[in-house]
Amino acid sequence: MKITKVLGYQVLDSRGKPTVAAAISLEDGSTHTSRVPSGASTGKHEAVELRDGNESISNRYYSGNSVNLAVANINSKIAPHLIGKEIDLTSVDQKLKELDSSETHEFLGANATLATSLAAAIASAHVRNVSLARYFQPTGKLLIPMPMVNILSGGAHANRTLDIQDILIVPTGAKSFTEALSWIVAVREMAANLGSKAGKITHLVADEGGLGIPFDSIELACTFVLESIEKVGLRVGTEISLALDIAATQFFDGASYNLTTLGKSYSSVEFVDYSLKLVKNFPIISIEDPFAEDDWSAWNSFSKIAPKYLQILGDDLLTTNSGRLNRAISEKSANSILIKANQNGLVTSTQSVLKQAQAAGFNTVVSARSGETEDSWLADLATGWRAGQIKVGSTHGAERNAKWNRLLELEATEDCEFKNPFLN
Ligand code: PGA
Ligand code: ZN
Repeated sequence: MKITKVLGYQVLDSRGKPTVAAAISLEDGSTHTSRVPSGASTGKHEAVELRDGNESISNRYYSGNSVNLAVANINSKIAPHLIGKEIDLTSVDQKLKELDSSETHEFLGANATLATSLAAAIASAHVRNVSLARYFQPTGKLLIPMPMVNILSGGAHANRTLDIQDILIVPTGAKSFTEALSWIVAVREMAANLGSKAGKITHLVADEGGLGIPFDSIELACTFVLESIEKVGLRVGTEISLALDIAATQFFDGASYNLTTLGKSYSSVEFVDYSLKLVKNFPIISIEDPFAEDDWSAWNSFSKIAPKYLQILGDDLLTTNSGRLNRAISEKSANSILIKANQNGLVTSTQSVLKQAQAAGFNTVVSARSGETEDSWLADLATGWRAGQIKVGSTHGAERNAKWNRLLELEATEDCEFKNPFLN
């Protein structure tokens, strides 16, 4: 079935910032739309997000953040090459690569390429009359991913109420996604109640829907989340464990890791030591970006001494980039990768980075961004790609719940399984 129209336009994300939408129309009269997410703690090595900057007139009220250039690239540089062609994700991505051969998509903007690529994926699934998850895995049981869910937010997402970005929980003992989500909601509500009783909450809903509660140390914050889990009546370790997103690039100044609320600075070597103590003293099963995006030696030495069960997850370090992943595989810098489509810029290349990681024995966690939209394609990608895990933020905010609700829908309507990825 042929493409009849490709249209880019500007919409808003969950933080009220402009982002790119793309709509692909087909001969049968159907239209398939996607909207791209955007980060706040953006890694230096991510694909280029094209924003207009301060010069643009149309940008006056958006503080330099409008995306008219990226939208114009869809409408004038991409659309003419796709209209009249058969809809097919792989050929659309191939064409996008030809039009912008730079690895970071700096010419068209990764927001323009990803919006088009996602709309092409959704349209391709429509033509086959299957869900987007099924488009990627046509037969066999689908694997609903284990959620990793934000309870406390800090860092760039909650005005630095906490030095690190997130304290999350992983309901590894749940037998289904439906059960997992019910546990998470209970823990988040308990944490909100305990936090407001103590008069501590400053951000009831941070950028990713988590709670912003100031704590003087990471240890006190972890203890608080553990207390919330126990008060709900769930067992720490066997049913729910902790995960951290340190987002360490945010507080690394090139020489030291500065935990400002704690009032302490650590050299790279000292911070490796500190991180090791932290993961040994708490039931933490996953730690994301424990070190800065280019501090490879800290990653490498931590990976050598960390407990074997620990998931060492690269986000800013790896930026869903095949070359950086290769380096991490050969140097054993990490053992798992966060997969964010907009760090990469194309659906098929994002999927191939995920497959490359899985082939090397890495765990894969498909992730949303702090700036999200009402779209739910992320849930289908994580499921159809058999990622095993997903990270979306918390259970507040329609842009977060759109993804959780889609996973509930997949579990209810498709032939699915749900597994604890930490048992492998
Ligand atoms: P970001 O944060 O979307 O603001 O980059 C998410 C993360 O660090 O995982
Ligand atoms: Zn992260």
